Amino acid sequence: MARHLITSAIPYINGIKHLGNLVGSQLPADLYARYLRGRGHEVLFLCATDEHGTPAELAAKKAGKPVDQYCAEMWAVQDKLSRGFRLSFDHFGRSSSAQNHALTQHFAGKLHEAGLIEEVTEKQVYSNADGRFLPDRYIEGTCPECGYDKARGDQCENCTKQLDPTDLIEPRSAISGSTDLEVRETTHLYLRQSRMRDRLSDWIESKRDWPILTTSIARKWLHDGDGLQDRGITRDLDWGIPVKRGDHDWPGMEGKVFYVWFDAPIEYIACAGEWVEAGKGDDWERWWRTDKGADDVRYTQFMGKDNVPFHTLSFPATILGSGEPWKLVDYIKSFNYLNYDGGQFSTSQGRGVFMDQALDILPADYWRWWLLSHAPESSDSEFTWENFQASVNKDLSDVLGNFVSRVTKFCRSKFGEVVPEAGTAGPDEAALIEALTTRIRAYEQHMEAIEVRKSAAELRAIWVAGNEYLQEAAPWATFKTDPDRAAMQIRVALNLARVYAVLSRPFIPDASATLLDALQTGDDSWPDDVTAALDTLTPGHAFAVPENLFVKITDENVEEWQTRFSGQRD
Ligand code: 2FM
Ligand code: ZN
Repeated sequence: MARHLITSAIPYINGIKHLGNLVGSQLPADLYARYLRGRGHEVLFLCATDEHGTPAELAAKKAGKPVDQYCAEMWAVQDKLSRGFRLSFDHFGRSSSAQNHALTQHFAGKLHEAGLIEEVTEKQVYSNADGRFLPDRYIEGTCPECGYDKARGDQCENCTKQLDPTDLIEPRSAISGSTDLEVRETTHLYLRQSRMRDRLSDWIESKRDWPILTTSIARKWLHDGDGLQDRGITRDLDWGIPVKRGDHDWPGMEGKVFYVWFDAPIEYIACAGEWVEAGKGDDWERWWRTDKGADDVRYTQFMGKDNVPFHTLSFPATILGSGEPWKLVDYIKSFNYLNYDGGQFSTSQGRGVFMDQALDILPADYWRWWLLSHAPESSDSEFTWENFQASVNKDLSDVLGNFVSRVTKFCRSKFGEVVPEAGTAGPDEAALIEALTTRIRAYEQHMEAIEVRKSAAELRAIWVAGNEYLQEAAPWATFKTDPDRAAMQIRVALNLARVYAVLSRPFIPDASATLLDALQTGDDSWPDDVTAALDTLTPGHAFAVPENLFVKITDENVEEWQTRFSGQRD
């Protein structure tokens, strides 16, 4: 038994996440956490909302709410949806927590003591009417390139030209509309991560077993031009973590906050403190401090490819630069993008299926199965309604659902709702056990390597093996000539249904629970020994026929959903 710390990239607070976000971090992290728990490991699985930065401020403004209230409400929405998708976080925290404030300020203090922070004075637009500096995207004006009159200070949305706020014609504040703007000097803190290039490079090169997607992105940023430039870690915003060194004020930094990408990954650590505060654990340092026992922990992070530079370079720079014994990540699993029906999922354009909409039309397991079995691992992948329908109907309904239904219904009609007693296993059962053993060991290997698609394919093959056995054994025919043998075949098959519930739980936890309930067993032990596992439900053990585990998706459903989800969400 080992100890596993698992974190998923923490989703931005603004808005409900789409299925592409879900499959890029939270869902595979959940798969892995559930698998490891199923194998008896001690797991701490953490996630949180990423609440700071300009997008949060802007979204709150759009919603007409104070930003702290907006964040609290959106956290509750995201928390509910996480539960809906059965994401088994040990804690779902918030980057705006008191723990993260303290820890972020602590890290800044340590980095400062280590000489890794530089104060840089630069020019920035100040709005007299608003009484504050404006981030680039808070300044609007006319694009010098195309004449679009709502271009932002960082980019023109119309012609996509990258802009500087000073390029805009007739610039105005996006907050108040005021044109009373001036350029003032302001001082910001920069993290001298360029000084850590060698340490970071050695560390990344030592990770021989990391996925190519992760290391290739890290190497590109490390060696190509300005990937590891010193980086501003403060902003002139109201909402965020006030700039301090530990508990002390930072002269010249009054009214400034840390940059969202500085404090967000620190929330991985702070979240463990929140977990303790919530009464769910009693010692977070044993997961995070190598001087307090975290040397034994294996730490795995999950994220989309756009997050990789921050997790392979910036956050490790914070951790290493602090000079303190914090746990560094052991393995980073990253994902490509999931596309939606010939285009991209897009939060800003409301394109695709969002988590709340998905749960409105179908149970979580259907989505979990499709998303995980099509996870964008080696390349981007694409969601289409036809593919989703085929996968749910064939894999879940025809293969797994049909096996369970045939076995339990046949047993009920011929032997009653108890595990039948007669008969002894023969060569066919020995062959089944051998085949299953090979497949289950392969499944374990794929899961341990976090090969999500391969794991799904192997699980499906395990379901197929049961169906083939049943097809060949044909207890409905055997029953007429040799009822004892049919009884034995059904006993094996009922036990196999329990094994399926256990093996499938990381992918489809609800169906797994329904199945274990129907089999009236609390025995969810892993099939380390398949022979013993097929002997778990003993003769006389009562069960009930489960309700339809999976309902098929009809062509009419597909047509309706295709239309409903073809435009933008409101
Ligand atoms: O891409 C995102 O959704 C970011 N909010 C991820 C942050 S992960 C980490 F740094 F905490
Ligand atoms: Zn333009």
